[in-house]
Parts: sequence; C-alpha cells; structure tokens
Amino acid sequence: MPSAKIYYDSDADPSLLDNKQVVFLGFGNQGAAQAQNLRDFGIPNERILIANRQDAYAEDAKSKGFIVEHDFVKAAAVADVLFLLIPDQVQPRVFNEQFSPSMKEGATIVIASGYNVFFKLLQFKPQQDVVMVAPRMIGSSVRSLFQKGKGFPCFVSVEQDGSGSGLGTALALSRAIGATKAGAIASSAREETAMDLLAEQALWPNIIMLFREAFSVLKEAGCSDEALCYEMWMSKEPAEIFERAAEDGFIGQLKHHSTVSQFGQLSGALSLDGIAARTHFKDILNNQILNGKFCRDLSKIEADLELDGLQNPLNELYRRAEQTELSQAEKRVRERLADLLSSTTT
Ligand code: NAI
Repeated sequence: MPSAKIYYDSDADPSLLDNKQVVFLGFGNQGAAQAQNLRDFGIPNERILIANRQDAYAEDAKSKGFIVEHDFVKAAAVADVLFLLIPDQVQPRVFNEQFSPSMKEGATIVIASGYNVFFKLLQFKPQQDVVMVAPRMIGSSVRSLFQKGKGFPCFVSVEQDGSGSGLGTALALSRAIGATKAGAIASSAREETAMDLLAEQALWPNIIMLFREAFSVLKEAGCSDEALCYEMWMSKEPAEIFERAAEDGFIGQLKHHSTVSQFGQLSGALSLDGIAARTHFKDILNNQILNGKFCRDLSKIEADLELDGLQNPLNELYRRAEQTELSQAEKRVRERLADLLSSTTT
C-alpha cells in the first residue's frame, strides 16, 4: 500500500474561493469552528451564510456577527460552496428534501464525515463537486488551534468531481479553515468511514467492556469503589497515557512507567495472540459496517433519536449502561465526593 499524500498550505490556492458564496448548514460543534476560522482567514462575512433552524445554535451564530438564514431552500439556492455540518443521521432527510433540489448545478458540497457519501444516502447532481474535509478533532480544538496559528489533523478527498477541479476547491477550503497548516492527509469516504465506525463499534466497545470486567473482578477481590474509580480512570491516567502515545509513540510511551509496569504490560500484551479480537473486528468491519447493515439499522430509528425519554433508543442504551456495576459504583463515589466538596466549602 503506497504512503498517503499529504497536502500543505503551499498546495492550496485560496484565490479559488474569490467571490464564492459559502453556506454552512449547521453551526454546531464543527460548523461554529469552521465558519469562524474561514472568516478569520479572510473570507468576507457577507460571503458566509449560516443556514440554521431557529434554535440556540442560530442565536450563537447571530451573536458572533454571522448572517443567518432559517429558510433552507433560499440558502441552498445561493450556495457555491455548502458545508454540510449537521449531525450525520439527519443529513439525508434535511439535505435531500430541503437543499438538494434548489442547489446550483456547479456547487461544491463539503462533508466532514464520509458516512452518508460512502453509504450513498445523499442525492447530488452529476455536475456538482463533493469533497471531504474531515477534521480529526472536536470543533473547539479546530477553533483553538487555528487561533494559536497551528494546524490540526484532517482528511481530504474528492468523492465526486463534477467540475474536474474539485481537488483545488477542496484544498483551498482546507487551507481556509486551517487544515493544511499541519498537513491534510489524502483519504476517502470509504477509508474514513471504515476507520471511524470500526473504532466506534468494535475498538471502543471492547475497551469499555474490558474496563467494566476488570472493575468487577477487582471489586470481587475486595477493592473499594473509590480506589477502583481513581485507579482506573478518575485520576486521568488513561488520558495521560494516550497523550504520551501521540507524542512519544504507542509503545515508546511505556518508558515513562515503572520497570515493573513496563515488564507487566509488554509481557502481558505479547502473550495475548489477539486472534479472537482480530476475528471479531473483521466480522464487525465486513458484516456490520462495510456491508451497510449498521447504516440500514440506524436509518430505521433515525427519527427516534430526537425523541425525549426512553422512547429515544440512545437514552435506553444509556439507561442500561448506567446499571452496570462500574457505573453504579462511580455514581456513588461522585455523590460522596460532591458531599465532601460541599461540606468543605460551606
Ligand atoms: P452538531 O451535533 O454539533 O450539529 C448541530 C447543528 O446541527 C446545529 O446547527 C443544529 O441546529 C443542527 N441540527 C441538528 N439537528 C437538526 C435537524 N434535525 N435539522 C436541521 N438542523 C439540525 O454536529 P457536529 O458534531 O458538528 O457534526 C457535523 C458533521 O461534522 C458531521 O458530519 C460529523 O460527523 C462531522 N464531524 C464531527 C466532529 C465532532 O467532533 N463533533 C469531528 C469531525 C467531524
């Protein structure tokens, strides 16, 4: 497999954005960060339109001086570039019904996640460009790193090249939001979706399960809830380990630990053959993610995710997860700590 191409500021020509009307559909986590970066980069405020339903996000955009349009059909009609930055599960409904029909034939649609494009849930016109500019960071970091003059990791791709010059526009936009400063990695909607969903549906579930089971075994062995919560995550040691892994190497960071710890971790990891995990990961990747099963299942319940209470399937999953021994113990520990805190401050 060849190395991925990495694009830098010098590969991008921001003049390609001259006189283009940019519309942000959504001013949430990513929308607020990217729109502000784009404006600070030098795209005039009057060339940026925030399309948002009437809610707190729209008020936030207005308070930051942006022009806000609540009528999506009107916003769609003026867009030369559309950043699609509302939650993935609502994009097909909102984009296909309220945006796509009135959009210009030559518009560029920018996605920040490969999901809906890989699963072919969005209806584009053949002459349109569809590009992915997908930051690998939450919006607040996309914004704060830009403000500090630093870049952030980002994936870039052209998914539909209606104009024949989609890559130029993708790179110009990447540069304008600050994504080519540290290097934007050439990727694809398929690659981004496979990696994202495998982490979400297999890697992190296993990590959650491993913590849950380790907690129960140590509790059975007589360890207290307080000691376990602090030992396992409330001390923030796992966060520190991952931070070190990003800086010093996934294995290299182990050198910051004691010799006993290093010996235990390395000998333990090397003695696990990982065959069961690898089989499980392949099964999830092929039979749940890439074959579209998860996507089809999620589409069926998408509208329910906006419901209140336990009718919302996500709330029901939270309810069940919060019943586990680990969650219940953590709740008790946090309540005790809150009591302690309030008794020392009053
Ligand atoms: P978000 O959840 O912060 O989006 C909120 C925005 O969507 C608000 O403007 C809200 O008014 C609008 N919205 C919500 N429901 C709506 C509906 N039913 N109809 C119309 N508008 C609605 O979204 P976020 O997290 O910024 O995600 C946007 C895109 O960025 C997604 O494709 C996501 O995968 C991608 N992304 C998100 C990252 C993150 O850290 N959150 C990181 C990288 C990419």
